[in-house]
Amino acid sequence: MNNLKNQPPSIIALDGPAASGKTTVGRRLAETLGYLFFDTGIMYRAVTWIALDHDMDAGDEALITQMAQSAQIDIRPPSQNDGRACDVIIRGRDVTWDIRSGDVEAKVSAVSAYPGVRKALSEQQRRIGMRGKVVMVGRDIGTVVLPEADLKVYLDASAEERARRRYDELVERGKQADYEDLLKKMIERDRIDSTRAVAPLRPAEDAVVINTDELSEDQVYARVLEMCG
Ligand code: DC
Repeated sequence: MNNLKNQPPSIIALDGPAASGKTTVGRRLAETLGYLFFDTGIMYRAVTWIALDHDMDAGDEALITQMAQSAQIDIRPPSQNDGRACDVIIRGRDVTWDIRSGDVEAKVSAVSAYPGVRKALSEQQRRIGMRGKVVMVGRDIGTVVLPEADLKVYLDASAEERARRRYDELVERGKQADYEDLLKKMIERDRIDSTRAVAPLRPAEDAVVINTDELSEDQVYARVLEMCG
């Protein structure tokens, strides 16, 4: 399974900004260790998708919070081999790719800044994470959701590099993409995520910070695996 000499950490928190490589590294690590992979961004995206689908005003904090408290977001093993890590199902509908749309990306930072939304979602995340044998990926896993994590890693990269990665990803999926536009949105999302009052994006004090600008996916993965034992 893996060549680790020691018992790997049970709760692994992997944080960082959009397109910093968290998901790819986290997925691979979870597979190697035989752990659950949990991408918490899916939950914030799903709540945002529901709001848009119901024509809710994303600026109506009370309404969005109430909806987040009762939202049924079903995350299942992947049913299709199209690059997805899992299926995301809402009321029987497969929204796996819909939650990655530009419309959702434009609103998700605002929705995830609402304290009530964060409370509702992070309580569920914590309950799952505390079972252990988990790689949990997000923005506030090491700081808020699972501060007792055995290993905390924070992946960083410049906005330019992350916009380029997002561009390549979209082109690979056969989508239209505009680098300058992606960069502008990336910078705006970083700004909102890192300046919000509750659980802003930042590394935990005891996190290992890795700047991935000059590193390949394999190199980042190798570094994180090394920390696991
Ligand atoms: O990782 P991602 O791009 O899928 O996350 C989408 C948004 O969700 C991101 O802009 C910030 C928010 N998010 C968050 O606030 N806390 C998390 N633990 C995960 C995501």
